Parts: sequence; C-alpha cells; structure tokens
Amino acid sequence: MPKPARKFPTRLAIIAAGIALIAAAFAAYLTPTRSRASLIGGPFALQMGDGKTLTDKDLIGHPYLVYFGYTHCPDVCPTTLAQISDVLRKLPGKPVKALFITVDPDRDSPKAMGDYVSSFDPRVIGLSGSPAEVEKAEKAFRVYARKSPTKEGDYSMDHSSVVYLMDRNGAFAEAFNLERSAEESAKELATYL
Ligand code: NI
Repeated sequence: MPKPARKFPTRLAIIAAGIALIAAAFAAYLTPTRSRASLIGGPFALQMGDGKTLTDKDLIGHPYLVYFGYTHCPDVCPTTLAQISDVLRKLPGKPVKALFITVDPDRDSPKAMGDYVSSFDPRVIGLSGSPAEVEKAEKAFRVYARKSPTKEGDYSMDHSSVVYLMDRNGAFAEAFNLERSAEESAKELATYL
C-alpha cells in the first residue's frame, strides 16, 4: 500500500518536470526568434533621388532588401550593391526592391544617393533625409554607424553591413545571404514574392 502511494507522486513529479523542461526549451527556442524579428524594422520616411518621400508603408505588398551604407564607401558598399544588383537581375520584372539608405546624411543628399544607385539595377532605390530621419531609420534597423576621422582631415563611416530581407508585409524575414551565387540568392528571394 505505501509503495504505490509514494511512487505515484514521484512519477507525476518526474513527468511534470519533464513537461516543464520541454515547455521551457520550446519557449527559449521561440522567444529569441520572435523578439529578434520584431526588433528589426519599423516606420521610416526618407527621400528618393527625385526628392519624393518613400515610407515603409509604400513598400507593403512585395518583399524588399534594405542595406545601409554611404556613397564615399571605398569597398564594402559598392561590392554589396553590385551583388544585390546581380540578384535582382536574375528576377527580371519581379516586384522586388532594394533600398540603399545612407548612414552619412551630411554628405549624401537624396540626389547624391539617386545618382549613385543609377549604375545598378533600377529597382535599387537610394535614400537619404535629414540627420534625424536617417537616425530614426538606423534605429529601426539596429544599424551601427559612426564617423571615423581620416588623416587627411576628412572622415569615413564605420557601419554595420547586414542586408535585411523584409517580407511582403514589411516584417523582417532574415539577414539575406549574399555569400553564394546570385542564382541561389535569387531563388530564395523569389519564395518571398
Ligand atoms: Ni560601406
């Protein structure tokens, strides 16, 4: 008699502990993903090369890439934009855009950004705005950007260089991988169309 009475709560406790552990593991697995996703992206309003304003709401309905950089960037930005352009060219006529947002609004006017992206796929949109507008966009995407003085008395910009893929609802989908062939990247991007 006393044996099963003792065994029962023990077994129950083990089962309960097991369930709690699985639930905790599952919650831990889900939570960072969800909070990370919701931490990236947000409302922004910036100017295109023609002076017109583009907001996140204008882009709803189709996926888009977002990349932050600046026109004086010696290597990483032009390389990344060329890669993005190659991917877009694998998707002719598809309604997917790529935003190139400046982290250097002091030097990059909307016109300068528009001129800069004109050598890439036409679906690459250059954007700038007031320092406050740019800062708002940087914060929304958790972008790091800082002026770094050069010997010549000029400056360059240290900046993070993640390519964000936003889905058709404007929600962050993933950090887009360009370290593969343009075909492979385009194939994945096409799944968000
Ligand atoms: Ni750069």
